[in-house]
Amino acid sequence: MTRSASRFARMAGVRRLNQRIATQMELAGRIPFFQPHLGVNGAAIDLGQGPLINFSSYNYLGLCGHPEVSAAAKAAIDRYGTSVSASRIVSGEIPLHRELEQELADFVGAEDCLVFVGGYNTNVTTIGHLYGRRDLILYDEQSHNSIVSGTLLSRAERKPFRHNDVHAVERLLREHRKQYGRVLVVVEGLYSMHGDLPDLAHLREACQRHDADLMVDEAHSLGVLGAAGRGLAEHCGLSGRSADIHMGTLSKALASCGGFIAGDANLVQYLRFLAPGFIFSVGLPPADTAAALAALRILRREPERVERLRANSRAFRRLMHEAGFAVDVQGVSPIIPLHIGDQYRCMQVSHDLLERGIHVQPVIYPAVPQDGALLRFFICADHTLAQLEAAVGQLAATLTAS
Ligand SMILES: Cc1ncc(COP(=O)(O)O)c(C=O)c1O
Repeated sequence: MTRSASRFARMAGVRRLNQRIATQMELAGRIPFFQPHLGVNGAAIDLGQGPLINFSSYNYLGLCGHPEVSAAAKAAIDRYGTSVSASRIVSGEIPLHRELEQELADFVGAEDCLVFVGGYNTNVTTIGHLYGRRDLILYDEQSHNSIVSGTLLSRAERKPFRHNDVHAVERLLREHRKQYGRVLVVVEGLYSMHGDLPDLAHLREACQRHDADLMVDEAHSLGVLGAAGRGLAEHCGLSGRSADIHMGTLSKALASCGGFIAGDANLVQYLRFLAPGFIFSVGLPPADTAAALAALRILRREPERVERLRANSRAFRRLMHEAGFAVDVQGVSPIIPLHIGDQYRCMQVSHDLLERGIHVQPVIYPAVPQDGALLRFFICADHTLAQLEAAVGQLAATLTAS
C-alpha cells in the first residue's frame, strides 16, 4: 500500500464505505454500481452478456444513439476538434453555442438562455452566484444535491420545506420574507426519486405575492412533460415564463452533456459575464453542443416521441398495478419507483432481475433513507409493450421467489 493510500485508509468515511462494500460483497458477491455498458444506454443495454431490457437510463426519447444526433456530433468534431480549448468569454465561443441557446430559449418560451458544461455545475454556480448573505433560499427537502450545494455556496439563509408542500412555502414566505433582501424558491419540474411533480400554479402565485424568485429545475421534465415536451409549465397549461429561472440539463432527453439556464435577458447576460462556473470553465465541447442541438430539433419535429413515452409510462403503471404492485396508476411521469425497504434485499432483487434479463438499478442510502431502498424504473419512448410486460412478469416472479 502506498503512503498516501494508507493515510486515507484511516479516514472515518473511507472505513465506513469499505465496510459497506465488504458487506455487500459477502451478501451478493458483487456491487451493482459502475458496471460498464458496451453500447447505447437505452431501452436495451449490453453489460457484456448480451442485451438486457433496460430501465436504468434517462435516454427518455431514444435520442442518444439516434443516427442524426451522432452524425451532428461527428461533424462538429471534424470542424472544431474535440474541445473549444478556452472559456467562451475569451476565445472558446463557437457559433453552435448561440444556436443551441437561442433554440432552447425559444423552445421553453424564455427570452434567452446560457449553456454550461454540466447540469450539476449549472445549479451550483447559478444559485451560488445569484444569491448572497442577505438573501433567503427556500428549497424542497428532496432537492437534488446540486441545488443544495448551490444554496450552501451562496451563503444565503437556507430553509428546506417539506416535499411538495406549497402551504409550507407560503408559511415560510409569510413569516420570513421581510427579513431578507431577495428570496428564491427552488423546486424540480419532476422529482427524480419518486417521479412526482410540484404545483406550479400555486407556487407561482405564492412567489408573486411575496416578491420571491421561482426557480424550476427541469432536468427530468424537459422533453418529458407537456404535449410537446416543453416541460412542467406546458404540462400545467401555463406560460413558459412561469418560472423566473428555468434550469435544464442536456444529459437526459437531449442526449448530450451540459446544463442551461433560460430566463429573462438580464438574468442570462449577468450569468454569461459573471457566473464563476461559466467564465472560469471551458465552453461546452463542440460534439456535445451539436448533439444537444440535433436532439432538440428532432424533439421539435417529432413530438410523437413524447406521446410514446407517456403511453409507455401509463402502460407500465397499469401492468404493475394489475400485478399487485403499489404504484401510482394515475401518475404521468416515466420515473416509477417500487419501494423495497431493506437496502441489501433491494440489491439482491436487482441482481436476481439481472439474471432474468432485466436491468433496473437499486436506489439505496444515502440517496434515500436507510430503510427506504427502492427499485427505480426509468421508462423510455423506445420500450415495446412486450418489454414492459416481460419486465413486470419477471419482477413478480423474482419477488415471489425471494
Ligand atoms: C434534478 C437534477 N438536477 C440536476 C442534475 C445534474 O444534471 P447532470 O447529470 O446533467 O449534471 C440532475 C442529475 O441527475 C438532476 O436529477
